[in-house]
Amino acid sequence: MANIVIVYDSLRGNTQRMVDVMSELFSAAGHQVKAFKAKEVEVADVNAADLLLLGGPTYHKDLINTMKQVLFKLEKAELKGKPGAAFASFGWSGESLGIVEDTMKNLYEMKLVAEGVKVKQTPVAAKVKKELEPFVQKILAAL
Ligand SMILES: Cc1cc2nc3c(=O)[nH]c(=O)nc-3n(C[C@H](O)[C@H](O)[C@H](O)COP(=O)(O)O)c2cc1C
Repeated sequence: MANIVIVYDSLRGNTQRMVDVMSELFSAAGHQVKAFKAKEVEVADVNAADLLLLGGPTYHKDLINTMKQVLFKLEKAELKGKPGAAFASFGWSGESLGIVEDTMKNLYEMKLVAEGVKVKQTPVAAKVKKELEPFVQKILAAL
């Protein structure tokens, strides 16, 4: 059983929906999932993770500020070589995914075990689940 930590933020519930779906899928596969909003997470929570997922939405072609702030905070975490992946909710361009993924790769030097996934805003959880399943499967295969 792996300890999967998810750090994210969501202003209107779409990224939250992705986190809920991923938590359900990882839990069903027998893993422990802890999801933290950007402002709630501590460096120790992330250090304790076997795998770290980071994600946030795009607003005005940018990552939201709370996620930018936590990316600075997590510079102090022990992330070099830690397995992880990025995710994002978006409407039409989705720049937040690349920002998070670049930071995980270049600043933290994490081991990205799946290509980052972005899911277009939708209130339909089943649609979100369908789009996230290949991403989750790839991560499960790497655990
Ligand atoms: C004011 C505003 C600006 C937005 N700007 C962008 C944008 O530049 N690119 C994009 O892909 N989506 C953009 N979106 C869409 C959001 O990324 C999308 O609704 C996303 O699912 C929001 O995630 P959240 O519900 O977790 O906050 C914007 C939405 C709003 C309301």
